[in-house]
Amino acid sequence: MGRVSRRHLLAGGALTAGGAVAGAAGVALGQPQEAPATIVAEPVAHGTQTVPFYGVHQAGIDTPAQAHAAFVAFDLVAGVDRAALVRLMRLLTDDAARLTRGRPALADTEPELAVLPARLTVTFGFGPGFFAAAGLDKLRPRSVAPLPAFAIDRLEERWSGGDLLIQVCADDPLTVTHTQRMLLKDTLAFARPRWTQRGFRRSRGSQDDGVTQRNVMGQLDGTRNPPLGSPEFDGAVWVDSGPSWLRGGTTLVVRRIRAEMEKWDAVDTMGKEFAVGRKLDTGAPLTGTQEHDLPDYRATNELGLTVISETSHIARAHVDSNRQRIFRRPYNYDEPPGPDGRPDMGLIFAAYQRDVGEQFLPIQRNLAEADLMNDWITPIGSAVFVVPPGCAEGGWIGAALLG
Ligand code: HEM
Repeated sequence: MGRVSRRHLLAGGALTAGGAVAGAAGVALGQPQEAPATIVAEPVAHGTQTVPFYGVHQAGIDTPAQAHAAFVAFDLVAGVDRAALVRLMRLLTDDAARLTRGRPALADTEPELAVLPARLTVTFGFGPGFFAAAGLDKLRPRSVAPLPAFAIDRLEERWSGGDLLIQVCADDPLTVTHTQRMLLKDTLAFARPRWTQRGFRRSRGSQDDGVTQRNVMGQLDGTRNPPLGSPEFDGAVWVDSGPSWLRGGTTLVVRRIRAEMEKWDAVDTMGKEFAVGRKLDTGAPLTGTQEHDLPDYRATNELGLTVISETSHIARAHVDSNRQRIFRRPYNYDEPPGPDGRPDMGLIFAAYQRDVGEQFLPIQRNLAEADLMNDWITPIGSAVFVVPPGCAEGGWIGAALLG
């Protein structure tokens, strides 16, 4: 669909794009008809796009982050053993394979909702309790366990732990809702939901695909992530040694981190930039001008102090070795404010790495010890999972471990 004039819209032009219709409503509500604006409506095609479910790795990790996500953690019910887990994972794999293709799950109660997968991915993670229930605790990577307590933590039970994780991501929130519900129904005979976290990024189409997005604190977030599909990414994320059942898999840390927005609002731009070590407008390091300029951690100012503070977030979080990097795939959350009007928002901070102990933990320790950002962010939830490798058509997720 091309350029459409407001007059055309008011005349009842056959438009389906949501944005265009909203624009028309704006005109009808009192703007002058002769306003010289035009509305560009793009073809509505995102909804039918699919991401392959089957593959060496599970989807939803090296998939460019979709706009909406649900992270659902479950507690296995008593008596669920290895044989039951095999049945569960076969069932869930079948559901996920169908839904991600835009087909209804078996016995789908709202099959009409399955037709727009909108790049749907479903990613499964196994927490410590999953290994215990399967009688396979000796196979659990040792650092897939509750993280050690950090002084900055204010963890709440209701956002922490879990035996099984289902991460559902899509560019459409109704697709996420439907998928989450279908998977939940099939899980209920085996497990109870422990926590659910819904998150969002910018709507697909608001910006060019692939640009770094801003988080709820207004920062460009993701600049120094290992690029998707690069050797740095592969070396940091996919397990490439050790037991064969885990090769091609990864591990996931999910931290719910509240952003103390009112305190953050009270800081001026310079203070905010100093805390992170990057500029708010461009995302450039304080020693550069462009977002992807490399930070110079040694550069000093006229007082002899480093331009990028040694306790800035990026200085504390930076690691030199590519093998030690983590891949961040965070989503924003925004819950209703409290009765006092206090915002309840922050990040569902999801980090993927080969090894939690070698990669995530040293970075988190550095940050917990001294990071200027700690004044404005508070971890309130924490959970760790193994994300087993993907599977081929006819196979199921977890087969190499449980099969
Ligand atoms: C609400 C919490 C957090 C916010 C708002 C936040 C924000 C940011 C921002 C704005 C950047 C700079 C741009 C970029 O490279 O993405 C950054 C970088 C980074 N953050 Fe965070 N972050 C948070 C929590 C964490 C946590 C918990 C970890 C890991 C334990 C972490 C690890 C990193 C790493 C590794 C970098 C890249 C450092 C480098 O330049 O090499 N962040 N973060």
